[in-house]
Amino acid sequence: MEPQQWFWVGISAFLAATIIPYLILKYIYHKLLANVLNYLFYILLFWMWIFAIYETPGIRRRRLEKAGVKERQVIVDLGCGPGRFVFLASKIIGPEGKVYALDIHPLNIAIVTVRKAIGGYKNINVMYADCHATQLPDKAIDLVFINDAFHEFADKDTLKEVARILKTDGILAIDEHEMREAKFMRIIESANLFTLIEKEKKLYKFKLLIGD
Ligand SMILES: C[S@@+](CC[C@H](N)C(=O)[O-])C[C@H]1O[C@@H](n2cnc3c(N)ncnc32)[C@H](O)[C@@H]1O
Repeated sequence: MEPQQWFWVGISAFLAATIIPYLILKYIYHKLLANVLNYLFYILLFWMWIFAIYETPGIRRRRLEKAGVKERQVIVDLGCGPGRFVFLASKIIGPEGKVYALDIHPLNIAIVTVRKAIGGYKNINVMYADCHATQLPDKAIDLVFINDAFHEFADKDTLKEVARILKTDGILAIDEHEMREAKFMRIIESANLFTLIEKEKKLYKFKLLIGD
């Protein structure tokens, strides 16, 4: 869908999801309770609506493509959360590739597992693991994708694990908005495992130093 269509979908969902519960609650409870709940719901919906406009599947797909995700690759979404990029990545990669969706939070893993089952995605492997010890084999991965998560496990051990699982010509793509660039680059450089090959806004792409 185009951003304009998302705009109208957002408005309709917003109206339906605020007015209908409001009417139901107003009917069931006292007016004050209905108002309070409706207000809370309004705030939640407002952010969902903003999110829907600014992060359409098209926008997310372009972010994956810029990170270097291509057909037939084997990739890991490290700290995948509830799967914001996992399912689009699965479509780009196709049946001959594989997406490892790895997270340390059981709720995220449950959500991705259910979404995978509902959508019938065969090329996704859901992994409940710590990124410091992924259980993945050596030199198995074409691309490690880390979106909005590196700041949660930014240390040398993570980078060592990523270097272990990446193929010699593999790519580490990190989209990082939380950390200041100087600190981010200091952590990467101090590990002495990766070299920066490309940077666009907050998307950093690295290759292995040993791959030179
Ligand atoms: C801010 S969320 C980002 C989620 C997702 N990448 C996105 O863009 O929506 C960070 C994620 O990193 C995960 N995480 C934190 N520490 C981790 C670790 N040591 N190993 C694996 N995942 C971790 C959290 O559970 C969380 O889902």
